[in-house]
Amino acid sequence: MAYTVSKLMDYSAAALEAAVAAAKAELQREHGDLSVAAVKHRAGGPQPDLKGFRDRWMGRKSGYLTQINDLWLKTAPPDHRRDVGARVNELRQWVTEQVAEILENVPAMWKVTDAQLEGVFADFGLKVPASERVDITLPGVQRAIGAEHPVIKTTNEMVRVFQKLGYSVADGPVVETDYYNFEALNFPANHPARDTQDTLFIAGQQGKPQRERLLLRTHTSPVQIRTMEKMRPPIRIVIPGIVHRNDPPDASHSPMFHQIEGLAVDTNITFGDLKGTLDHAMKELFGSSVKTSFRPSFFPFTEPSAEMLVSCFICGGSGRRGTEPCRPCKQTGWIEILGCGMVDPNVFEFVKDNGYDPKRVSGFAFGMGADRIALLKYGVDDLQLFFNGDVRFLEQFV
Ligand code: PHE
Repeated sequence: MAYTVSKLMDYSAAALEAAVAAAKAELQREHGDLSVAAVKHRAGGPQPDLKGFRDRWMGRKSGYLTQINDLWLKTAPPDHRRDVGARVNELRQWVTEQVAEILENVPAMWKVTDAQLEGVFADFGLKVPASERVDITLPGVQRAIGAEHPVIKTTNEMVRVFQKLGYSVADGPVVETDYYNFEALNFPANHPARDTQDTLFIAGQQGKPQRERLLLRTHTSPVQIRTMEKMRPPIRIVIPGIVHRNDPPDASHSPMFHQIEGLAVDTNITFGDLKGTLDHAMKELFGSSVKTSFRPSFFPFTEPSAEMLVSCFICGGSGRRGTEPCRPCKQTGWIEILGCGMVDPNVFEFVKDNGYDPKRVSGFAFGMGADRIALLKYGVDDLQLFFNGDVRFLEQFV
């Protein structure tokens, strides 16, 4: 709002102080504007209106100082006149000095020669070559803020679907112990998934007992155990996160990739709940016309275990796109999308003391690859494109 000298509501010291502060702030603001205008004028802009500035403050007829005199001092009741008079005098003196200084310094700012400027730079040890000097009057450089990565976007969409069903988000460490990644998930000691072919172990831990050895988690399932240790049933969680496996990178593999895990535990959870929940989630994500299908599979930590397929949302399940064979579903009309199953009672044994008595509770779990789903969703044919950081690729997903 533009500045005006206002009447004093009362003549208390506080009211007077506030009015004086407002006047001073206004003068400082004008000083700032005039300095900027001076720099712009030096670069070819219009000359700052110093006469207007002087008249506004010092003009005899209606300048701010005259108005202050009329509105504050002349109207003051006799018993306040001395105090108000003293404060107004002080302010008048300050304003007069400031205005004089500004009238002298602002023109000096636009009249300064390149040589003088050079001298100022030198005084401050800033001998900046002309080519590197910055014109502070130019608009700034706008930096691109980027876009959400397609894998993160897909993950967030999936997480959202489960949040709407009442699931909360859980997470855990990427560097995990053998205990959480394998043992508590019912992997027998000689299970092939423990093989160094798949698992990246941290070096130099031969001295430790096996269960304490550190590795890069090969799946998000250890967070099932970690969460059940912290939260009593019933629970419903989704676990997005990165995992590592000793796979050389190619169009469909990467040593680092993303999973989305889910776990629901309560009394009386059945395979029907698993099917209903996952079927609903796939319809939310890929459209209400997709169908789901389950076929038997094996995971040490679920029993029974299944693999879920969705009808190909690219060819609509026909296996063909026009006269061409549909590549994403390999002409089968179905796409493998995740592993799932009923939580194996042996897993509950590891967290039994926290309320997970396998005789009392049951649950289901599922895990899917977020990268693979993003590949399918966006029709990308090379997984490496997601990870090699080429902005020209990523820009397409803004
Ligand atoms: N952790 C399994 C994998 O990475 C997926 C899975 C999770 C299977 C939960 C069943 C239940 O292959």
